Amino acid sequence: MSTEADSMIWSSLPVPAVLIDENERIGDLNPAAEGFLNNSAKWLRGQPIWDRLAVDAPLEESLARAREQGTPLFVNDVDVGTGSRAPVVCNLQIAPLQGRPGWMVMLISPRELAGRMTQSNSVKSAAKSAIGMAEMLAHEIKNPLAGIAGAAQLLSMSLPKDDLELTDLIVAETRRIVKLLEQVEQFGNLSPPELQPVNLHDVLDRARRSAGLGFGAHMKIIEDYDPSLPLAQGDPDQLLQVVLNLLKNASQAADPNKGGTIRLHSFYEHSFRLRRADGSGQSLPLQIEVIDDGPGLPDDIRGDIFDPFVSGRENGTGLGLALVSKIISDHGGWISVDSVPGRTVFRISLPRAPGASAKHTAQSRAKKEKS
Ligand SMILES: Nc1ncnc2c1ncn2[C@@H]1O[C@H](COP(=O)(O)OP(=O)(O)OP(=O)(O)O)[C@@H](O)[C@H]1O
Ligand SMILES: [Mg+2]
Repeated sequence: MSTEADSMIWSSLPVPAVLIDENERIGDLNPAAEGFLNNSAKWLRGQPIWDRLAVDAPLEESLARAREQGTPLFVNDVDVGTGSRAPVVCNLQIAPLQGRPGWMVMLISPRELAGRMTQSNSVKSAAKSAIGMAEMLAHEIKNPLAGIAGAAQLLSMSLPKDDLELTDLIVAETRRIVKLLEQVEQFGNLSPPELQPVNLHDVLDRARRSAGLGFGAHMKIIEDYDPSLPLAQGDPDQLLQVVLNLLKNASQAADPNKGGTIRLHSFYEHSFRLRRADGSGQSLPLQIEVIDDGPGLPDDIRGDIFDPFVSGRENGTGLGLALVSKIISDHGGWISVDSVPGRTVFRISLPRAPGASAKHTAQSRAKKEKS
């Protein structure tokens, strides 16, 4: 390697890379390749490459051609063995080395790695297109549904009493579908949050009251607030939606006859930081937990509950937590879940409103409340 920068790049490459000289011997290799071949560079240099690396594909001819014509060569999904361990499926990328006639550089990407990265990407885009498709369908289905419900209502006027049950059923079921479609549409229509300083306890209170009057009437909801919690930076309406969804899930998980208990817990965690893939970090010190004592997440979907259309309930659309997760990530926040039978904790971590210090904010709020 000539310059310092070159050698830095070479040793930082996360993929095994090998230089092959004009005699098919190992000219050099990077640390990742040392690991892959399970030997030191010192020992490996000068060794015939194909003695060290068993590639289950007829490479010679195409490699010779690539070398002659100065063109790159890609070989996908080949078994690559190293003598000391079982072969792994790899993608090989081989290209002529600039400035050294006859030499080639070869990158060895184990498929496990390559496969995993594309897989998670494709899962995300699959979810996106599933939602896109559902939105389109939702839009298309709503109009004819309204027609069906209307027709059933007209029909019911001329039917004998005994048959009314049937038209009622049609109307009730179409209503249910319309509601479901509205949920799908709501997901697609979600606008970016209008961020402003928010008192999270106001949000929790509003959610608690509305839950208590409706879907959560059978639940006991306990407040466990840190009164000095500073203001968060968020969109109050969207955060209300988040808490309502979490309360609804907890209420639906509980035994409908016996009910259950939900604890709304707020606290400040100074050290909570989100580290992003690009190295930047954000402080998310405001914590809200929605804790229930129900049966816990079903085992078969536990890893996927934030994905759209994943539901463990008979009539669930599986959009609740997908919406929650989208809103929280639009806020730059974080959501996590910890669940065992008897205790399920959904935790939301949010940034603070810029400006006043924690103490300051709490004090000025206390003053405001007094006045
Ligand atoms: N607190 C909880 N306790 C037990 N299971 C839960 C809890 N919260 C969520 N779940 C599980 O996660 C699944 C996904 O939840 P999500 O809110 O995304 O969809 P849903 O409630 O099934 O449908 P929707 O919210 O669209 O009506 C639920 O069906 C349920 O099985
Ligand atoms: Mg739900």
